[in-house]
Amino acid sequence: MKILRTGAEMSAWSNGRLAAGESIALVPTMGFFHAGHLALMAAAKQRAAQVVVTLFVNPAQFGKNEDLDSYPRNFAGDCQLAVQEGVTVMFAPSPAEMYPPGFQSRVEVTKLSLPLCGADRPGHFAGVTTVVAKLFNIIKPQYAVFGEKDFQQLAIIRQMVKDLNWEIEIIGHPIVREADGLAMSSRNSYLSRADRQTALCLSRSLRLGRQLASRGKETPAEIVTSIKKNISAVASVDYVNIIQADTLADSSEINQESILALAVKVGQTRLIDNCRLLSSLTP
Ligand code: PAJ
Repeated sequence: MKILRTGAEMSAWSNGRLAAGESIALVPTMGFFHAGHLALMAAAKQRAAQVVVTLFVNPAQFGKNEDLDSYPRNFAGDCQLAVQEGVTVMFAPSPAEMYPPGFQSRVEVTKLSLPLCGADRPGHFAGVTTVVAKLFNIIKPQYAVFGEKDFQQLAIIRQMVKDLNWEIEIIGHPIVREADGLAMSSRNSYLSRADRQTALCLSRSLRLGRQLASRGKETPAEIVTSIKKNISAVASVDYVNIIQADTLADSSEINQESILALAVKVGQTRLIDNCRLLSSLTP
């Protein structure tokens, strides 16, 4: 596996592969890999001869009081795992390489970035779309894989690709979970033993939501109220919403496109999770 640090080196490598008629699948990450990241890499490997993983803890998507400085890092361990997944290139630029002095552009998907995590973290998604747009331009992949765990991010990136005419197929990958249901996340490493138990309130809430939805008696608003009450007993709710998958607008009725999405603070750690409401009850 090659480790590349500059946009110029990365672009030159991509141009060479594309000229040789090879396809490239991209997996953008902020590192500290877990099985969710590795599943995205495996899915990328199935699509294309060349898999590029980017590892960049993107300052532009962190708020002032967020965890940029403490974000978990393990570059050597991440490289080992990426090699095992058959990744061909790890692109790991520095912040100065991505945002040199004088940098002043921003890519923003306006409406889809407003609700949910966008309301709790102003500017977050503009940071995400700006960096992902740069990665698309540098690497020029035919495919890019993103996790459904960050379903709003995935919807925003699909919209950006459509709006800006990139010929990149965006592949969404299902959420990878721990055996007990907790969605894998680099931020799970912040959780104390007690908070790790409390964090199960997220996946428990998804199960409760699906149970109530399958009974068909409660409205979306009533289901949200029940779930908020349940979570509030153990942790602090940032949001619980039942939304439509494509528009992210609140659902007035439950249908195949309804997603239950939540963000919860467990201790100091903000965790997110989601599911289709009319899907099976596992986990
Ligand atoms: P990061 O949080 O490192 O996540 C990288 C990718 O892994 C994202 O597409 C995310 O949705 C996916 N992922 C994380 N946990 C997952 C899980 N449990 N199951 C399936 N997929 C999972 O998301 C980012 O980085 C950044 O915002 C980025 C897109 C790299 C832009 O900086």
